[in-house]
Amino acid sequence: MKITGKTRVVVHLAYPAKHLRTPEFFNPLVARLGHDAVLIPWEVSPSALPDAWAGLRKVENLAGVIVTVPHKQAVAQLCDELEGTAAALGVANVARRLPDGRFAGRMFDGDGFVRGLLNAGHPVEGKRVLLLGAGGAATGIAHGLLAAGAADLAIYNRSNDKAEALVTALVRLYPGRRIRTGPADGAGFDIIVNGTALGLRTEDPLPLDPSSLGPGSVVAEVVMNPDVTPLLLAAQMRGLTIHRGVHMITGQVQLLADFLLSPFQPSEVGAQ
Ligand SMILES: NC(=O)c1ccc[n+]([C@@H]2O[C@H](COP(=O)([O-])OP(=O)(O)OC[C@H]3O[C@@H](n4cnc5c(N)ncnc54)[C@H](OP(=O)(O)O)[C@@H]3O)[C@@H](O)[C@H]2O)c1
Repeated sequence: MKITGKTRVVVHLAYPAKHLRTPEFFNPLVARLGHDAVLIPWEVSPSALPDAWAGLRKVENLAGVIVTVPHKQAVAQLCDELEGTAAALGVANVARRLPDGRFAGRMFDGDGFVRGLLNAGHPVEGKRVLLLGAGGAATGIAHGLLAAGAADLAIYNRSNDKAEALVTALVRLYPGRRIRTGPADGAGFDIIVNGTALGLRTEDPLPLDPSSLGPGSVVAEVVMNPDVTPLLLAAQMRGLTIHRGVHMITGQVQLLADFLLSPFQPSEVGAQ
């Protein structure tokens, strides 16, 4: 990859940023697609985010931002336009900078996660899913799983009020589906998803007791550093099928690149 004065920049907003792996997938892909662009990590604390965002509005060679822990909800509020899931659930994992410095946000985590599962041969339609977490990634995943036809979705989160709020929003979007909060207990589910940040730090506890995992279930991760988390190791030791966090980024990296780097539409330029 050659960086020149014409290279467009994509910023990866995170806090912390040390664990980020998206650049290792995004940068080779955009080079293969023939874009002159680069993704670089920015470690920005939640309290500094509004100032950093105000600065990003002024950067004329900025294509946009990719957003991860813990900024997805805050970035959705800072965006000037939200589309699709981002508008429905108030979370964004990507925002495109328009020529006048406004930002249009989207959420591809759900699509990425579901594509990753399907590509690995794990169907979603009709399945019973336990989702651990109700943050930005988990919110997108919950939506993606229901859109893909999951029959039963139980959500557990440390902060129960966030799980309740997510369930309320999803019930409105998917009337008639079985959607509820529940305990961190894997018994009776086909797919168990760790959608929390637990597993990133060596001292983290497991997000659920692995002895609750029933036979035949698929245990999936969002955490991709380490590549095989302690939860996945525990599931593997019980003879279960595991699905690594990396599948979620490979499932969405092209969606991110297409959204960030496609030419501006006349309506976007005309809004200046
Ligand atoms: N593989 C991929 O492509 C991909 C894409 C996006 C994100 N991710 C990963 O997904 C993870 C979550 O990201 P996010 O953007 O959703 O972050 P977020 O919005 O900050 O949400 C964090 C989630 O983790 C929970 N959590 C954090 N620390 C916890 C603890 N000590 N005990 C119990 N629960 C805890 C939070 O619970 P509370 O609500 O109670 O705080 C919340 O549910 C990160 O590890 C990120 O790297 C992976």
